Amino acid sequence: METVNVPSHVGIIMDGNGRWATAKGQKRSYGHKHGSANVDNIVTHAFKRGVKSLTLYAFSAENWARPKEEVDELMKLLKAYLKKFAKKLYKNDVRLIVIGGREELSEDLRKAISEVEEKSKDNKSNILNIAINYGGRQEIVNAVKRLIEKGEEITVNGISENLYTSLSGDPDLIIRTGGELRLSNFLLYQGAYSELYFTDVLWPDFNEIEFDKAMEEFGHRKRRFGKV
Ligand code: IPE
Ligand code: IPE
Ligand code: MG
Repeated sequence: METVNVPSHVGIIMDGNGRWATAKGQKRSYGHKHGSANVDNIVTHAFKRGVKSLTLYAFSAENWARPKEEVDELMKLLKAYLKKFAKKLYKNDVRLIVIGGREELSEDLRKAISEVEEKSKDNKSNILNIAINYGGRQEIVNAVKRLIEKGEEITVNGISENLYTSLSGDPDLIIRTGGELRLSNFLLYQGAYSELYFTDVLWPDFNEIEFDKAMEEFGHRKRRFGKV
């Protein structure tokens, strides 16, 4: 497939695991397992397509309100993903950055995160941001607090530079799977001029072909940024 305009930074709201499992008569955790197995395919494919940065919404600051059993399962899968990623690091040149509040995470998970971040910090080809305990509003508040602490002026660029994703820049495209038409607190500040792509396909079914459809659609969008 030919893509004319490749988005440099893509954000993905990976939604629909629970409904995918329910539709199959399974527990929600079954959907999360399949959803997490899908991450690698899409990450590899997106970078192959020329995307430079990917930001994946894995767990929102609001997702703590789910049943403890489900939260525990999601945390377990995240840790396993990070460990697997760390093992494969030698053959890719991807820098992994976890974005979101760290304090609320278990010590185990925090350790796994620091390890991958440290090991991948000199990798240059691509950036993979994984949003865990992430909230866009919280991120903006933290950025403003940081500016105040540093005694710097509060400006549009100043805030941008103090967001978690400053290395990736603003997302050109935000994809949401699972059929809901909302942002659910994802990249609120950075997404000011992002193209939005919504699909009914549930995350465990969102494959390379579906990703290419989003890329194709992006290629036809006219971005004006307020100009004529
Ligand atoms: C996305 O799938 C994964 C997370 C939010 C952690 P959901 O678990 O939200 O699945 P649905 O939306 O209930 O189907
Ligand atoms: C958004 O999905 C968060 C992630 C995909 C990690 P949710 O399923 O939590 O969003 P809402 O509750 O439907 O808005
Ligand atoms: Mg959901």
